[in-house]
Amino acid sequence: MRGRIRVPGDKSVSHRALIFAALATGRSRVRGLLNAADVRSTANVLRALGVHVPELSDEVAIAGLGLRGLHSAASVLDCGNSGTTTRLMAGVVAGYDFVTEFVGDHSLSRRPMRRVAQPLTAMGATVALARGDVLPMEIRGGPLRPIDWDNESSSAQVKSAILLAGLTGGVSVRISAPRPSRDHTERFLRALGATVTESDGGRAVTLEPPVSLRPVDIAVPADPSSAAYLAALAALADEGEIVLEDVLDSHYRDGFFRALGRMGARVNRAPLARDSAGDALATYTVGAPASGLRGISIEVGDVSAMIDELPLLACVAARAAVGDETVVTGASELRVKESDRISVTAANLRAVGATVEELQDGLRIVGAGRTPLRGHIRTHGDHRIAMAFGVLAALAGNEIAIDDRHCADVSYPGFWEDLARATGAAADSPSGSAMGELA
Ligand code: S3P
Repeated sequence: MRGRIRVPGDKSVSHRALIFAALATGRSRVRGLLNAADVRSTANVLRALGVHVPELSDEVAIAGLGLRGLHSAASVLDCGNSGTTTRLMAGVVAGYDFVTEFVGDHSLSRRPMRRVAQPLTAMGATVALARGDVLPMEIRGGPLRPIDWDNESSSAQVKSAILLAGLTGGVSVRISAPRPSRDHTERFLRALGATVTESDGGRAVTLEPPVSLRPVDIAVPADPSSAAYLAALAALADEGEIVLEDVLDSHYRDGFFRALGRMGARVNRAPLARDSAGDALATYTVGAPASGLRGISIEVGDVSAMIDELPLLACVAARAAVGDETVVTGASELRVKESDRISVTAANLRAVGATVEELQDGLRIVGAGRTPLRGHIRTHGDHRIAMAFGVLAALAGNEIAIDDRHCADVSYPGFWEDLARATGAAADSPSGSAMGELA
């Protein structure tokens, strides 16, 4: 296990870079945008609303239409697999006096949307949902009123939807939540000239709507959620280490790296002197401990900063010292991600021979050390399940086949190639999984 890898651009930042470029006044420049299926969904939705978004590439220039410049879409907006596209763009169109209909793929069509429909309705939009909660979702926006919304969950997507509705609707908004969550939307707003204030230890945020936004000029940092897979691989390797470059450095996103450290892995975070338009950057160096990983407990306060990495953490936990338990609680949100990640992770861990108990709001995983894991993974088209089990599949001695490797393209194009590069294996090994001997 060795090498230096800069994983692709951050997904959350990439969605927002496109959205804010579209709403800014003037020409924006985005470098290092993540060109993955989810971000292409946001680009397509913006195009349908009249924004000229060129084909995504390493450097994208977008002429913003201003906060009031979007046009009504001629057809339904297909958000593909992307919950972020749907919820953030629901907020954007809520400020416009036209009707927009959102649809998505099979997975997105079962995910809850009432959580955005409720605050947007309270602001004055009219929102219709299938079965009161899911796509298709039709939004008639219009004159909005200010809102002070007490959010039940700590979802950054819901918070962002309300902030974006305040922005396009020209009304002040305040959102509070049980716990703080990733603050990318707030950082963009501030960097582009809006007044956003935080209170209550980051749990509440207020936006005073600006008249216009300055253009975006950003180099998107590497995605910590993608870097996490290679960090996990290094933590489970026999020897060596991996260096992960230019990773977005945020306390709201680094929970997996902190958890790996608590499990005993060697995790070194070196903050970089330069930043990326407001986002700090760090280089992570990760290696395996001399003597196996420990089980840990992940509680509700830990969840938000590693929400997308919890299936991966469960896979790592299955290789902790024999008999060591890792218990994840307070994570019931996992049930409404791209798949029910509690039951899908548990079923797949069981399918490869690990010992796991499914909890209502989490998982209990029993470490089995280096006992080989063998079996077939059903991803349910969920990119994070494919990649988490891809890491286990890449470890010497395991024989794990994954039904759909292609879905990794939702957030990490080139994942299988990077995994193979890190282990020195070929990405297209005949078993259909990236299996390789670790150096
Ligand atoms: C995201 C927020 C999180 C995360 C998702 C991206 C964002 O979802 O799981 O992958 O970019 O705001 P929730 O806001 O639903 O927790």
